[in-house]
Amino acid sequence: MLLAAAPVAAAEPDARALYRLHCGGCHGQVLEGGLAEPLIKSDWRFGRDGFSVESNIRHGIPGTDMPGYVGELSDEEMAALVELIYSLQTEAVWIAKPLPPVVETEHYTLRVEYLATDELENPWGIEFTGPSEALISEDAGYLLRYRDGTVDPERITGLPAVDLATSTGGLMDIALDPDHAENGWVYAAISHSEDPDDRYARGLTRIIRGRVDGNRWRDTEYLFRLDPGYHLPDSKHWGGRLLFDRDGFLYFSIGDMSAAMNSQDPAMPSGKVFRIRPDGGIPDDNPFAGEDGPRGGDELNLLVKGRNYGWPVVTFGVNYDGSVISDRTHADGIEPPVVEWTPALAVGPIEFVASPAFERWRGDLLVGSLSFEELRRLEIDGGRVTRQELLFKGHGRIRDIRTGPDGAIYLLLNNPGALVRLTAVGSAAR
Ligand code: HEC
Repeated sequence: MLLAAAPVAAAEPDARALYRLHCGGCHGQVLEGGLAEPLIKSDWRFGRDGFSVESNIRHGIPGTDMPGYVGELSDEEMAALVELIYSLQTEAVWIAKPLPPVVETEHYTLRVEYLATDELENPWGIEFTGPSEALISEDAGYLLRYRDGTVDPERITGLPAVDLATSTGGLMDIALDPDHAENGWVYAAISHSEDPDDRYARGLTRIIRGRVDGNRWRDTEYLFRLDPGYHLPDSKHWGGRLLFDRDGFLYFSIGDMSAAMNSQDPAMPSGKVFRIRPDGGIPDDNPFAGEDGPRGGDELNLLVKGRNYGWPVVTFGVNYDGSVISDRTHADGIEPPVVEWTPALAVGPIEFVASPAFERWRGDLLVGSLSFEELRRLEIDGGRVTRQELLFKGHGRIRDIRTGPDGAIYLLLNNPGALVRLTAVGSAAR
């Protein structure tokens, strides 16, 4: 190609000049920090992935002095700034540093063991099938088996195809039937798209169950699969969490599929938490309840049958484009959150601690975050969060949290993919 012939209008944005003009005053002329933190670093507080970094530049960061540049810089200029920031990093920006072997917390010294790294890419959910055995879902659409401290690299395949064109979908959470030992049923949430190669194709989350037989998934049954009429385009925010309650009902979440307002429409499936019988049957007293996380204003809600959690009519969040989603943070008929986080933590998994090995955390809620890469412990009293402790931050996205049959706390991490076991080695007085 003849460079001299290229039209002037198509010139690449001069990222260094843009940086010096708009950013250097706070972050330092060579990204070394000044009024604000350095931008060459490993501890990205507000997300290290390209989407988060760009979104922080575009909209600013609520609660800090970081201004938003929407309207001031073009999309190309912001993309060029992200590229410049990435190109100047001295460490691989995508890969978080591993946790140290020991983490001090208020009540416990935690021993950290990495049980598997190479075998895992983007693990999503873990379920224990025996005293020292578990199944792990991988977003690419297969399961792996954990046994006695290691993950078997041999894949369990044969699940229905998942949509991988969007970075947020795939094979998501898994759950075991309450009678799994007898009937073998494993439940899974998958992102279904009408065209798995098209990022903007229509689709919707599906819930399936099947059985694992050696390294094959068999007997697939669809428990939640709606007509294409309910499919939504530009699919993101699939939801995909599964949970059985004590009465044997299966709960699952369907995200807002990038169409927030549908969450308030009881006739639309998105932005809801559903409850079904394990065979897919619908309980007579079937409830409706909506929730989701915008940019800022992630909420922890106490789920009560049929209640409305407000999204997006009532929220603390602003849209990813910076506009205020709602000026209302509470309203009649809408459940207020138990706790609210701004900027949004990108709340991922949660797990109540009931392990005798963590007696002092009994009844506390562990909360993992994706883009902020945080593990938090919430003390809860009478349905309110009374205290929060940040246990650690910056060691990868926290995708799942599970108490093992051995009483240890197991974490699935992304970027890099890992299975981590936390045990208490000592304790400080309360
Ligand atoms: C008025 C000061 C100011 C200016 C100007 C500014 N920032 Fe920031 N920026 C901040 C502050 C404050 C934070 C919050 C963290 C901190 O204290 O450094 C932040 C955070 C960030 C983060 C998130 C860092 C993380 O740890 O996740 C990124 C990325 C960022 N800024 C990029 C930019 C870019 C690119 C520009 C120029 C287009 C810019 N900033 C201009 C003050 C500023």
